[in-house]
Parts: sequence; C-alpha cells; structure tokens
Amino acid sequence: MRSYRLGAIGVLVLFFAAITATVLMPMILFNPPPSGHGNAYVAERGGDPIKGRQIYVREGCMYCHSQFTRLQDRGMGPLVSAGDFASETPNQLGTARTGPDLTNEGGKHSPGWQKAHLINPRAMKPGSIMPSFSYLSLEDMRDLVAYIEVLGNNRRPANYVEAPAEYAPILAAKKVDTDADPVANVGRGLYIQDCATCHGMDGRGNGPDAISMETKPSNFTRPFYKQYSDAFWFYRITEGVPGTRMPHWGETLTPQQRWYLVAYLKRLPQDKEDTVTSINQLDGFFMEMQHVQHMWNPPFEEVK
Ligand code: HEC
Ligand code: HEC
Repeated sequence: MRSYRLGAIGVLVLFFAAITATVLMPMILFNPPPSGHGNAYVAERGGDPIKGRQIYVREGCMYCHSQFTRLQDRGMGPLVSAGDFASETPNQLGTARTGPDLTNEGGKHSPGWQKAHLINPRAMKPGSIMPSFSYLSLEDMRDLVAYIEVLGNNRRPANYVEAPAEYAPILAAKKVDTDADPVANVGRGLYIQDCATCHGMDGRGNGPDAISMETKPSNFTRPFYKQYSDAFWFYRITEGVPGTRMPHWGETLTPQQRWYLVAYLKRLPQDKEDTVTSINQLDGFFMEMQHVQHMWNPPFEEVK
C-alpha cells in the first residue's frame, strides 16, 4: 500500500514538473521584443482587420491553417521570428496544415478572389476540401477578407530581405570585398563550374539541367533581385532551397567561395523579366554537353 502511494506521488510530481517546464516557465521567461515585421492592422480597402481576426478565431480557421513559416517553407514567403507575434493574442500559429500556411497570404490574391473563395472554395480551387463560409454576414465577410489581406503585410519582400539572426557572426567575419572586379571574376569561375548547368551561363535559369526540374532554377536577371543585399545572397546560397534541387552550398563551399559567388551574382544585369518556358530557350551549351556526353559514351558502332 505504501509503495503504491509513493508511486502516485511520483507520477504527480513528474506531471507538474513537465507542466512547469513546458508551460509556466516559457510563459514567464520568454518575452521576445517585437521584431517590427508582425502584421500591421491597417485595412487597405475597407473592412476592419481586427474584427476579421476575431472571426478567423471564431470560425476555427486555425484547425486547418497555420501561420508560421519554417525553414523548410521557403515557397510560402519570408520566415517568421518569435518577435513577429508579440502583439498577437491569442496566437493563431496552429499546427495542422490541411490547408496552406497563411502567414504571407495578404496580397497573394485580390480581395474579390478571397471573398469568392470563402463563399465557394471549389469555384476557385476545384477539388478543394475547404468548407464554404457562405453563411457569414456581408459585414463579417468584409472584415475577414480585410484580415486575410493584412497577413504578412510587414513581411513583403520589398521590406523584408534579411538574413536570419544566427547569421550575424558569419556575416561579421566577411573578409572579401564583394564590390571588387577580381573577386567577381573568381566568382564567375565558380559559377560556371557549380551553378551554370542549372542557372544558365547568363543567369537566366535556363541551364540544360533545368529541363528536368519541376521547380525551375531562379532567373537572376529579374528586377526582383535588385533588392537583395550581400548578406541575403550569402544566406540563400548557403542554405539552398529545400524542396527543390538547389543544393545546400554551405556544406561544400567555404564561406569565402560563397562570398565570391555573391560578388558575381549581384552584378548580373537585373532588368529582364522573361521566364524560360520552352526547350529552345535553353542555353546553347546544351549542345556542347551533348557533345561531351557523346565523347564519353560513344554510340555502339563507333566503339567497334
Ligand atoms: C477543413 C479545413 C479548412 C478550414 C476549416 C479552412 N480552410 Fe482554408 N483551405 C483549406 C484547404 C484544403 C485549402 C487549399 C485549397 C484551396 O485553396 O481551397 C485552403 C485554402 C485557403 C486559402 C487560399 C490559400 C491560397 O492562397 O491558395 C485561404 C485564404 C484560406 N483557405 C482561408 C481560410 C479561412 C479564412 C478559413 C476560416 C474562415 C479557412 N480557410 C478555413 C482548408 C481549410
Ligand atoms: C541542380 C540545380 C542547381 C544548381 C547546381 C544550383 N542551383 Fe541555385 N537554384 C536551383 C533551384 C531549382 C532553385 C530554386 C528556385 C525557386 O525557389 O524558385 C535555386 C535557387 C537559388 C537561389 C535562391 C534565389 C532566390 O530567389 O532567393 C540562389 C541564390 C541560388 N540558387 C544560387 C546558386 C548558386 C550560387 C549556385 C552554384 C554554386 C547554384 N545556385 C547551383 C537549382 C540549382
């Protein structure tokens, strides 16, 4: 009997220790300062985003949609940091991703699209399993759409192209002058060797290997890249792009080599918007590759 009681007390102590460590201590000790990249609750086209947020909470959108981009969610827009949620209570982080992550949903579609999608999701996305919210009043609908439009409005690429905080020591240790011509020239050499098969000889994302890729390599001549800082280039090269064939260069290239590449990439002319849609646009050096392959694997008759 005595040992039984001891066991029960042990279990209770463990239970409360776990609650203290995972719930109470973080509540008291974890207070990240606001990052300045959290959602700004200002409606661009009418509706009240704060009321809209209450409707989002009430309707349980969180049961299917998360609101935090992780390292592996590059396609979903910029990553979030703890300070982004300093003024968001109750948080709508969510865990289930039955639907896509909505962290940076604002601005992805027009308000009209959002409204039509909420009324009849399958009209906009055939096969969608999202339920219809057509029963919401007109006013509720307007507020909810205003809220969706606000999501990520402080995290748009135009004002958020930053390497994460853990890169600070690496960036501070930079010893390469990324504006110098010789440095860019070395970068060019590395680029031809490691990157051109995918990103193309002139950086347009049209290397011969691009042909077999579902997510095509980036076209560095897009004006979009004008806003990239050296640090952000470095970060993107180092981490690669999860979910695509873009390698994680932090593993195989030294930081110095990656800075050389930054020096080259940022010099590419950034004024073309064209994307590669047909095999005819692939680099001429495809032919050369075929030639090289031919040399190494000659057809049967030639071997004879
Ligand atoms: C039962 C799960 C479920 C619930 C609940 C749900 N959604 Fe969805 N949602 C989905 C799925 C699945 C998709 C992807 C297919 C589609 O776009 O319709 C989606 C897509 C979306 C998209 C489009 C994302 C994009 O850009 O492609 C938005 C916006 C959205 N939901 C908002 C909401 C809001 C607001 C609520 C609450 C009022 C909500 N959802 C409730 C499952 C859900
Ligand atoms: C096997 C093919 C492949 C090779 C080799 C490759 N990349 Fe990529 N790269 C990709 C793909 C695919 C993407 C993802 C494009 C996307 O996300 O839309 C990408 C994306 C990138 C990005 C991110 C662009 C952005 O939008 O932020 C950078 C920077 C980059 N590559 C640089 C390089 C450099 C530098 C090298 C050589 C050292 C290289 N890549 C080699 C396929 C490749």
